[in-house]
Amino acid sequence: MSESASSLSVVRDVDSLRRRLKDWRSANQTIALVPTMGALHTGHMALVEHAKALADEVVVSIFVNPTQFGPDEDLAAYPRSDSEDWELLAAADVGLLYMPDASVMYPEHFQTDVKVIKVSQGLCGDHRPGHFDGVATVVTKLLLQALPDYAVFGEKDYQQLVVIKRLVADLDIPVDIVGLPTVRELDGLALSSRNAYLSEPERAIAPALYKELSAVASDISNGAESSERCAQAAEALLKAGFNTVEYVDARDAETLMPLTSHGKPARVLAAVTLGKARLIDNVPVL
Ligand code: PAJ
Repeated sequence: MSESASSLSVVRDVDSLRRRLKDWRSANQTIALVPTMGALHTGHMALVEHAKALADEVVVSIFVNPTQFGPDEDLAAYPRSDSEDWELLAAADVGLLYMPDASVMYPEHFQTDVKVIKVSQGLCGDHRPGHFDGVATVVTKLLLQALPDYAVFGEKDYQQLVVIKRLVADLDIPVDIVGLPTVRELDGLALSSRNAYLSEPERAIAPALYKELSAVASDISNGAESSERCAQAAEALLKAGFNTVEYVDARDAETLMPLTSHGKPARVLAAVTLGKARLIDNVPVL
Protein backbone atom coordinates (compact mmCIF):
# COMPACT_ATOMS: atom_id res chain seq x y z
CA MET A 1 0.00 0.00 0.00
CA SER A 2 1.56 3.30 -1.06
CA GLU A 3 -0.14 5.33 1.65
CA SER A 4 2.17 8.33 1.22
CA ALA A 5 1.59 8.82 -2.53
CA SER A 6 -1.80 10.55 -2.23
CA SER A 7 -3.77 12.90 -0.01
CA LEU A 8 -5.85 9.94 1.18
CA SER A 9 -5.33 9.20 4.84
CA VAL A 10 -6.55 6.26 6.84
CA VAL A 11 -7.92 6.23 10.37
CA ARG A 12 -8.67 3.09 12.32
CA ASP A 13 -10.39 4.20 15.50
CA VAL A 14 -13.32 6.41 16.49
CA ASP A 15 -11.28 9.16 18.17
CA SER A 16 -9.04 9.68 15.14
CA LEU A 17 -12.06 9.64 12.85
CA ARG A 18 -13.84 12.26 14.93
CA ARG A 19 -10.74 14.47 15.20
CA ARG A 20 -10.38 14.53 11.44
CA LEU A 21 -14.08 15.17 10.84
CA LYS A 22 -14.10 17.93 13.45
CA ASP A 23 -11.41 19.78 11.46
CA TRP A 24 -13.58 19.57 8.35
CA ARG A 25 -16.66 20.71 10.22
CA SER A 26 -14.83 23.66 11.79
CA ALA A 27 -13.94 24.73 8.26
CA ASN A 28 -17.67 24.55 7.39
CA GLN A 29 -17.14 21.60 5.06
CA THR A 30 -20.06 19.23 4.47
CA ILE A 31 -19.32 15.52 4.78
CA ALA A 32 -20.60 12.44 2.93
CA LEU A 33 -20.02 8.91 4.21
CA VAL A 34 -19.90 5.87 1.91
CA PRO A 35 -20.03 2.67 3.99
CA THR A 36 -18.59 -0.46 2.30
CA MET A 37 -17.10 -3.84 3.05
CA GLY A 38 -14.22 -3.24 0.62
CA ALA A 39 -13.30 -5.30 -2.48
CA LEU A 40 -14.30 -2.08 -4.21
CA HIS A 41 -15.66 -2.13 -7.75
CA THR A 42 -17.19 0.37 -10.18
CA GLY A 43 -20.52 0.18 -8.33
CA HIS A 44 -18.91 1.32 -5.07
CA MET A 45 -16.96 3.98 -6.94
CA ALA A 46 -20.18 5.39 -8.46
CA LEU A 47 -21.35 5.97 -4.88
CA VAL A 48 -18.04 7.68 -4.11
CA GLU A 49 -18.34 9.95 -7.17
CA HIS A 50 -21.88 10.88 -6.19
CA ALA A 51 -20.74 11.55 -2.62
CA LYS A 52 -18.04 13.88 -3.96
CA ALA A 53 -20.66 15.82 -5.91
CA LEU A 54 -22.92 16.06 -2.83
CA ALA A 55 -20.47 17.13 -0.17
CA ASP A 56 -17.18 18.98 0.28
CA GLU A 57 -15.43 15.99 1.86
CA VAL A 58 -15.91 12.25 1.52
CA VAL A 59 -15.13 9.51 3.99
CA VAL A 60 -15.31 5.90 2.84
CA SER A 61 -15.50 3.16 5.42
CA ILE A 62 -14.29 -0.38 4.84
CA PHE A 63 -15.36 -2.89 7.45
CA VAL A 64 -16.29 -6.50 6.77
CA ASN A 65 -18.96 -6.63 9.43
CA PRO A 66 -19.02 -10.07 11.08
CA THR A 67 -22.46 -9.63 12.66
CA GLN A 68 -24.25 -9.49 9.31
CA PHE A 69 -22.92 -12.89 8.21
CA GLY A 70 -24.68 -16.09 9.29
CA PRO A 71 -22.69 -19.03 10.70
CA ASP A 72 -22.77 -20.83 7.32
CA GLU A 73 -22.04 -17.76 5.22
CA ASP A 74 -18.89 -16.48 3.53
CA LEU A 75 -17.33 -14.20 6.20
CA ALA A 76 -13.94 -15.97 6.13
CA ALA A 77 -13.91 -16.15 2.32
CA TYR A 78 -15.29 -12.63 1.72
CA PRO A 79 -13.02 -11.03 -0.91
CA ARG A 80 -10.49 -8.53 0.45
CA SER A 81 -8.28 -6.31 -1.69
CA ASP A 82 -6.88 -3.61 0.60
CA SER A 83 -4.16 -2.28 -1.67
CA GLU A 84 -6.39 -2.16 -4.77
CA ASP A 85 -9.07 -0.43 -2.68
CA TRP A 86 -6.50 2.09 -1.52
CA GLU A 87 -5.41 2.81 -5.11
CA LEU A 88 -9.00 3.29 -6.28
CA LEU A 89 -9.87 5.67 -3.44
CA ALA A 90 -6.65 7.64 -3.84
CA ALA A 91 -7.24 7.94 -7.60
CA ALA A 92 -10.78 9.17 -6.88
CA ASP A 93 -9.30 11.85 -4.64
CA VAL A 94 -11.10 10.67 -1.51
CA GLY A 95 -9.78 12.40 1.61
CA LEU A 96 -10.37 9.85 4.32
CA LEU A 97 -10.63 6.09 4.64
CA TYR A 98 -12.02 4.68 7.89
CA MET A 99 -10.94 1.08 8.46
CA PRO A 100 -11.82 0.01 11.98
CA ASP A 101 -11.20 -3.56 13.02
CA ALA A 102 -13.73 -5.72 14.81
CA SER A 103 -12.42 -4.80 18.27
CA VAL A 104 -13.10 -1.12 17.54
CA MET A 105 -16.65 -1.75 16.34
CA TYR A 106 -17.47 -4.49 18.84
CA PRO A 107 -15.30 -4.07 21.94
CA GLU A 108 -15.54 -6.52 24.80
CA HIS A 109 -18.94 -6.37 26.54
CA PHE A 110 -20.68 -4.98 23.45
CA GLN A 111 -24.34 -6.03 23.74
CA THR A 112 -26.56 -3.69 21.76
CA ASP A 113 -28.56 -4.75 18.73
CA VAL A 114 -30.46 -2.40 16.42
CA LYS A 115 -33.45 -4.25 14.98
CA VAL A 116 -35.73 -2.70 12.39
CA ILE A 117 -38.75 -4.90 12.69
CA LYS A 118 -41.06 -5.00 9.69
CA VAL A 119 -38.93 -4.15 6.67
CA SER A 120 -36.25 -6.61 7.82
CA GLN A 121 -38.74 -9.45 7.48
CA GLY A 122 -39.45 -11.32 4.25
CA LEU A 123 -37.26 -11.40 1.11
CA CYS A 124 -33.58 -11.67 2.22
CA GLY A 125 -34.66 -11.39 5.86
CA ASP A 126 -36.25 -14.85 5.65
CA HIS A 127 -33.14 -16.43 4.16
CA ARG A 128 -30.49 -14.65 6.21
CA PRO A 129 -31.75 -14.64 9.82
CA GLY A 130 -30.19 -11.80 11.80
CA HIS A 131 -28.54 -10.29 8.72
CA PHE A 132 -30.43 -6.99 8.80
CA ASP A 133 -29.93 -6.65 12.56
CA GLY A 134 -26.18 -6.83 11.89
CA VAL A 135 -26.48 -4.29 9.07
CA ALA A 136 -28.73 -1.95 11.10
CA THR A 137 -26.39 -2.08 14.09
CA VAL A 138 -23.19 -1.43 12.16
CA VAL A 139 -24.72 1.31 10.00
CA THR A 140 -26.14 3.03 13.11
CA LYS A 141 -22.67 2.92 14.65
CA LEU A 142 -20.97 4.25 11.50
CA LEU A 143 -23.50 7.09 11.25
CA LEU A 144 -23.10 8.03 14.90
CA GLN A 145 -19.32 7.78 14.71
CA ALA A 146 -19.07 10.05 11.67
CA LEU A 147 -22.27 12.13 11.93
CA PRO A 148 -22.07 12.90 8.20
CA ASP A 149 -24.44 15.24 6.37
CA TYR A 150 -25.07 12.52 3.77
CA ALA A 151 -24.64 8.76 3.64
CA VAL A 152 -24.70 7.11 0.23
CA PHE A 153 -25.94 3.56 -0.47
CA GLY A 154 -26.77 1.48 -3.55
CA GLU A 155 -30.19 0.26 -4.65
CA LYS A 156 -28.41 -3.00 -5.47
CA ASP A 157 -29.11 -3.97 -1.84
CA TYR A 158 -32.63 -2.63 -1.98
CA GLN A 159 -34.01 -4.11 1.23
CA GLN A 160 -30.90 -2.91 3.07
CA LEU A 161 -31.53 0.63 1.77
CA VAL A 162 -35.14 0.54 2.99
CA VAL A 163 -34.01 -0.78 6.40
CA ILE A 164 -31.45 2.04 6.70
CA LYS A 165 -33.94 4.75 5.70
CA ARG A 166 -36.35 3.38 8.31
CA LEU A 167 -33.80 3.30 11.14
CA VAL A 168 -32.57 6.81 10.41
CA ALA A 169 -36.14 8.13 10.49
CA ASP A 170 -37.09 6.10 13.59
CA LEU A 171 -33.97 7.02 15.59
CA ASP A 172 -33.89 10.68 14.45
CA ILE A 173 -30.34 10.37 13.14
CA PRO A 174 -29.62 13.69 11.42
CA VAL A 175 -28.34 12.45 8.05
CA ASP A 176 -29.68 12.42 4.48
CA ILE A 177 -29.72 8.86 3.16
CA VAL A 178 -29.10 8.86 -0.58
CA GLY A 179 -29.84 5.77 -2.69
CA LEU A 180 -28.26 5.30 -6.13
CA PRO A 181 -29.19 3.02 -9.05
CA THR A 182 -27.37 -0.28 -9.53
CA VAL A 183 -24.26 -0.22 -11.71
CA ARG A 184 -24.20 -3.18 -14.11
CA GLU A 185 -21.87 -5.00 -16.46
CA LEU A 186 -22.66 -4.50 -20.16
CA ASP A 187 -24.65 -7.75 -20.16
CA GLY A 188 -26.81 -6.54 -17.25
CA LEU A 189 -25.20 -8.44 -14.35
CA ALA A 190 -25.19 -6.21 -11.28
CA LEU A 191 -21.63 -5.53 -10.11
CA SER A 192 -20.96 -7.30 -6.83
CA SER A 193 -17.90 -8.30 -4.83
CA ARG A 194 -19.42 -11.80 -4.78
CA ASN A 195 -19.29 -12.11 -8.59
CA ALA A 196 -15.66 -13.11 -7.97
CA TYR A 197 -17.01 -16.49 -6.82
CA LEU A 198 -18.47 -17.29 -10.28
CA SER A 199 -16.73 -19.77 -12.59
CA GLU A 200 -16.68 -18.96 -16.31
CA PRO A 201 -19.77 -21.05 -17.17
CA GLU A 202 -21.61 -19.60 -14.15
CA ARG A 203 -20.66 -16.08 -15.23
CA ALA A 204 -22.34 -16.80 -18.58
CA ILE A 205 -25.59 -17.79 -16.80
CA ALA A 206 -25.60 -14.90 -14.29
CA PRO A 207 -26.99 -12.10 -16.56
CA ALA A 208 -30.22 -14.10 -16.97
CA LEU A 209 -31.22 -12.86 -13.50
CA TYR A 210 -31.44 -9.21 -14.58
CA LYS A 211 -33.07 -10.15 -17.91
CA GLU A 212 -35.75 -12.16 -16.12
CA LEU A 213 -36.45 -9.47 -13.50
CA SER A 214 -36.71 -6.83 -16.23
CA ALA A 215 -39.20 -9.00 -18.12
CA VAL A 216 -41.26 -9.51 -14.92
CA ALA A 217 -41.26 -5.76 -14.21
CA SER A 218 -42.39 -4.94 -17.73
CA ASP A 219 -45.14 -7.61 -17.67
CA ILE A 220 -46.43 -6.35 -14.30
CA SER A 221 -46.53 -2.81 -15.57
CA ASN A 222 -48.54 -4.15 -18.54
CA GLY A 223 -51.08 -5.69 -16.15
CA ALA A 224 -49.74 -9.21 -15.42
CA GLU A 225 -50.77 -10.69 -12.05
CA SER A 226 -47.63 -10.27 -9.98
CA SER A 227 -47.45 -13.43 -7.86
CA GLU A 228 -48.19 -15.69 -10.82
CA ARG A 229 -45.61 -13.87 -12.97
CA CYS A 230 -42.98 -14.10 -10.19
CA ALA A 231 -43.59 -17.84 -9.82
CA GLN A 232 -43.05 -18.29 -13.57
CA ALA A 233 -39.83 -16.31 -13.32
CA ALA A 234 -38.56 -18.56 -10.52
CA GLU A 235 -39.14 -21.58 -12.80
CA ALA A 236 -37.40 -19.86 -15.69
CA LEU A 237 -34.37 -19.04 -13.54
CA LEU A 238 -33.98 -22.66 -12.48
CA LYS A 239 -34.20 -23.70 -16.14
CA ALA A 240 -31.56 -21.08 -17.01
CA GLY A 241 -29.13 -22.87 -14.68
CA PHE A 242 -29.34 -21.14 -11.28
CA ASN A 243 -29.02 -23.73 -8.52
CA THR A 244 -31.70 -22.37 -6.21
CA VAL A 245 -34.15 -19.49 -6.29
CA GLU A 246 -34.69 -18.14 -2.77
CA TYR A 247 -37.39 -15.75 -3.91
CA VAL A 248 -38.70 -13.66 -6.77
CA ASP A 249 -41.21 -11.15 -5.49
CA ALA A 250 -42.86 -7.86 -6.41
CA ARG A 251 -43.25 -5.46 -3.51
CA ASP A 252 -44.25 -1.91 -2.70
CA ALA A 253 -41.05 0.06 -3.38
CA GLU A 254 -41.30 2.10 -0.18
CA THR A 255 -42.66 -0.27 2.45
CA LEU A 256 -41.64 -3.61 0.88
CA MET A 257 -45.14 -4.86 1.72
CA PRO A 258 -46.86 -7.18 -0.82
CA LEU A 259 -48.44 -5.28 -3.70
CA THR A 260 -52.06 -4.41 -3.10
CA SER A 261 -52.94 -1.92 -5.78
CA HIS A 262 -51.56 -0.86 -9.11
CA GLY A 263 -50.24 2.68 -9.32
CA LYS A 264 -47.93 2.77 -6.29
CA PRO A 265 -44.19 2.50 -7.06
CA ALA A 266 -43.20 -1.17 -7.07
CA ARG A 267 -39.99 -3.17 -7.22
CA VAL A 268 -39.27 -6.72 -8.37
CA LEU A 269 -36.62 -8.35 -6.18
CA ALA A 270 -34.87 -11.73 -6.26
CA ALA A 271 -32.17 -13.81 -4.64
CA VAL A 272 -30.65 -16.90 -6.25
CA THR A 273 -27.63 -19.10 -5.80
CA LEU A 274 -25.23 -20.00 -8.56
CA GLY A 275 -22.32 -22.24 -7.64
CA LYS A 276 -20.69 -20.71 -4.56
CA ALA A 277 -22.30 -17.30 -5.11
CA ARG A 278 -25.54 -15.94 -3.71
CA LEU A 279 -26.72 -13.23 -6.09
CA ILE A 280 -29.38 -10.60 -5.43
CA ASP A 281 -30.87 -8.08 -7.80
CA ASN A 282 -33.94 -5.88 -8.17
CA VAL A 283 -35.52 -3.57 -10.73
CA PRO A 284 -38.22 -0.91 -10.60
CA VAL A 285 -41.64 -1.50 -12.14
CA LEU A 286 -41.97 1.52 -14.40
P1 PAJ B 1 -21.01 -3.65 0.30
O1 PAJ B 1 -21.64 -4.90 -0.21
O2 PAJ B 1 -19.54 -3.48 0.21
O3 PAJ B 1 -21.71 -2.45 -0.45
C1 PAJ B 1 -21.40 -1.13 -0.11
C2 PAJ B 1 -22.37 -0.22 -0.83
O4 PAJ B 1 -22.19 -0.37 -2.25
C3 PAJ B 1 -23.85 -0.59 -0.54
O5 PAJ B 1 -24.60 0.60 -0.36
C4 PAJ B 1 -24.26 -1.33 -1.80
O6 PAJ B 1 -25.65 -1.26 -2.07
C5 PAJ B 1 -23.45 -0.58 -2.85
N1 PAJ B 1 -23.29 -1.37 -4.08
C6 PAJ B 1 -22.86 -2.64 -4.19
N2 PAJ B 1 -22.91 -3.04 -5.48
C7 PAJ B 1 -23.40 -2.00 -6.20
C8 PAJ B 1 -23.70 -1.79 -7.58
N3 PAJ B 1 -23.50 -2.74 -8.48
N4 PAJ B 1 -24.19 -0.59 -7.95
C9 PAJ B 1 -24.40 0.40 -7.03
N5 PAJ B 1 -24.13 0.26 -5.72
C10 PAJ B 1 -23.65 -0.92 -5.30
O7 PAJ B 1 -23.66 -3.23 1.60
C11 PAJ B 1 -22.68 -3.40 2.32
O8 PAJ B 1 -21.39 -3.44 1.85
C12 PAJ B 1 -22.79 -3.54 3.83
O9 PAJ B 1 -23.97 -4.21 4.15
C13 PAJ B 1 -22.69 -2.21 4.60
C14 PAJ B 1 -23.83 -1.23 4.22
C15 PAJ B 1 -21.33 -1.54 4.36
C16 PAJ B 1 -22.83 -2.48 6.13
O10 PAJ B 1 -21.87 -3.38 6.55
